[in-house]
Amino acid sequence: NIGVVRRERFSGGPARGFLSSLAADERIFAADIAVDRAHVIMLIEQDIIDAATGESILTALDSVETAGHDELPDGEDVHEAIETAVIDRVGPAGGKMHTARSRNDEVATCIRYRLRSDLLQAIDATLELKKILLEAGKVHTETIMPGYTHLQPAQPITVGHWLCSYAAGIERDTARLLDAYDRVNTSPLGAAAFAGTPFEIDRERTATLLGFDDVLENTIDAVAARDSLIETLSALAAHAITLSGMAEDLIIFANKGYVKLADQYASTSSIMPQKVNPDTLELVRAVAGDVTGELTGLLTTLKGLPRAYNRDLQRATPHVWGAIDDTTETTAIIGGAIKTAQWADEALESAAGDGFSTATGIADALAMAGIPFRTAHEVLAVATDRAGNETPTVETLNHAAEDILGESLFTYVDQDTIIDILDPVMNVSTRDSRGGPATAAVTATIEMYEN
Ligand code: ARG
Repeated sequence: NIGVVRRERFSGGPARGFLSSLAADERIFAADIAVDRAHVIMLIEQDIIDAATGESILTALDSVETAGHDELPDGEDVHEAIETAVIDRVGPAGGKMHTARSRNDEVATCIRYRLRSDLLQAIDATLELKKILLEAGKVHTETIMPGYTHLQPAQPITVGHWLCSYAAGIERDTARLLDAYDRVNTSPLGAAAFAGTPFEIDRERTATLLGFDDVLENTIDAVAARDSLIETLSALAAHAITLSGMAEDLIIFANKGYVKLADQYASTSSIMPQKVNPDTLELVRAVAGDVTGELTGLLTTLKGLPRAYNRDLQRATPHVWGAIDDTTETTAIIGGAIKTAQWADEALESAAGDGFSTATGIADALAMAGIPFRTAHEVLAVATDRAGNETPTVETLNHAAEDILGESLFTYVDQDTIIDILDPVMNVSTRDSRGGPATAAVTATIEMYEN
């Protein structure tokens, strides 16, 4: 409520709807009621407004809350509309609600208040996803699969190892969101327009009433700063990118027949009746694009804004709402897809040795026997070429050794060991270094992530 005279003067014209954030502000309707309440309680306690007026305002706020956002009178934004609704109920004394504050500190407080609960939901979703990855990981500590670099078969790993790789990423995503939460959780309220107020307000009190950890000290910073939105949205973008990689892997694995997605997470074609398509995961992959777009929108909106408040900030906020909704939903969706996916153990095992993926294991065995790794690498490279990039026979391996080393392969590693290492299952079991793919290493990783 900007007062009758001013309101009339600035009430009309084609820019009215453009100026208004009332519709988008539905997101912070409940937050604004909470902020109003805290502010009014503080004003009463500080004897800035009398208790009777304060109580009638609080009663009016209850009724505005019950009526809901849709019943608000017109206004430039939710703050103005709620104030008008309070004045409609209380009379002119309702206008005392806006003593010692501005919409600038008010909106900044509302954003942080609402974002806290959205962040908690996003964080919860990441914790749940990590749990799902680790549960699946436990089931698949022994399930062999091909591991890739450059999308080429590289070395056999286990499905549990692959799942843990994403549990690790998700754990860091959670940590980044928690960091963002800490900095979001501070109160700008009481900064007024940007320059403080002559009233004897108690900023700590409103911060406490609203559950904030602390007060944003400098009043210009309090209304102008949106870096915690950047931080939040960056954390969301990083997380969405983790999810998109996971989705892409699963799309590829589904394509190769390594994993079967549950029908609930797949889709079919309107014309080709035989099709089972990983549409859900493709959408998960796409969300990272949306979130990156929201981050870019936020950054470019904020870039170069002068102190203190500028209306550009009104268009900065929705980027965060869009991004956090999309990301939280996506986190749950991919969790469901992983929980219900069936890993095709046999197909995975038979593909695990493709493209002579056990080569590094043989080179490692030669190196363990004292041959410089670079020389061992050369032996295997020659054998690979001669076998047409598939797994060479022991004989071919031996010939390559003789040509490069001038000695039999078996001088260094006995034939049984070679045969073992050429088996993808045995090959994986030797790679039990910390964080590695061997069953014991994966089990240890899962235990670590669970504690
Ligand atoms: N609705 C605005 C926002 O979201 C707050 C209004 C402050 N308006 C102003 N002219 N200072 O940022």
